[in-house]
Amino acid sequence: MEDIHLKASETAAYIKQKIRTIPEIAVVLGSGLGPLVDRMDHTLEICYQEIPNFPVTTVEGHAGKLIIGHLGEKQILAMQGRFHYYEGYDSEQVTFAVRVFKLLGINNLLVTNAAGGINESFKPGDLMLIKDHISFFAPSPLRGRNISEFGVRFPDMSEAYNKSLIEAARKAAERLNIDVQEGIYAFAQGPMFETPAEIRALGFLGADAVGMSTVPEVIVAQHCGMKALGISCITNMAAGVLGQPLNHEEIMVIAKAVEDKFASLVKEIVKDWTLK
Ligand code: HPA
Repeated sequence: MEDIHLKASETAAYIKQKIRTIPEIAVVLGSGLGPLVDRMDHTLEICYQEIPNFPVTTVEGHAGKLIIGHLGEKQILAMQGRFHYYEGYDSEQVTFAVRVFKLLGINNLLVTNAAGGINESFKPGDLMLIKDHISFFAPSPLRGRNISEFGVRFPDMSEAYNKSLIEAARKAAERLNIDVQEGIYAFAQGPMFETPAEIRALGFLGADAVGMSTVPEVIVAQHCGMKALGISCITNMAAGVLGQPLNHEEIMVIAKAVEDKFASLVKEIVKDWTLK
């Protein structure tokens, strides 16, 4: 295995010499959060292709980029274009950026995603603060030799989603009069949507929503001691819940309709984010 710590250090060094100040929070932009970057000021963009060791986006056609700048008073780094396991990247590639963020000196991570609602009280367009996750069916990104420069062999996952950040996010939503759900996010490898039987099973296990990202990134963040917050945009009810077929285009329509609300909430959360 190649030395991930060495590779991530090289990458962090490259980014560091391009930026003036170290961002305080890294934000992984999921579907429905693209326009957050329009609310940022004084931005610097770095395309993934020019970043040494960064995985290259082959599948989606358009290149991803890191956008560094101000969101309100805070200096953030937004990751536009994430790497999904279903695209064929291995867990190391899916989570590489999080390790780079840590080595840059960023200790706060906000991860967002689109997800299918399992909890029948949810509706498409809802935002859900992630309280915890279930990930029984996917390989751990920490599998293999432990990289002790990042963390311990057997990391505790009791509070992978930081409770004070969830509380602060709840208050931010209240201030903006935005209703938010809270719940458990289940990771599915994809790219196919789940079967109704799988969704029923996940519901019995305690999942409120299901999606194909976020969990590997949060596991790696927890391993290296970063504080993480996760928010899902419920773009559809999961398979079998309403008895209708799922379709990616409809999901994108809901993600787009929620964009403004989602971006406003994230901006308000970031404003009040207590840094270490
Ligand atoms: N399942 C998995 N991932 C998803 C879904 C879903 O129903 N909706 C958006 N991302």
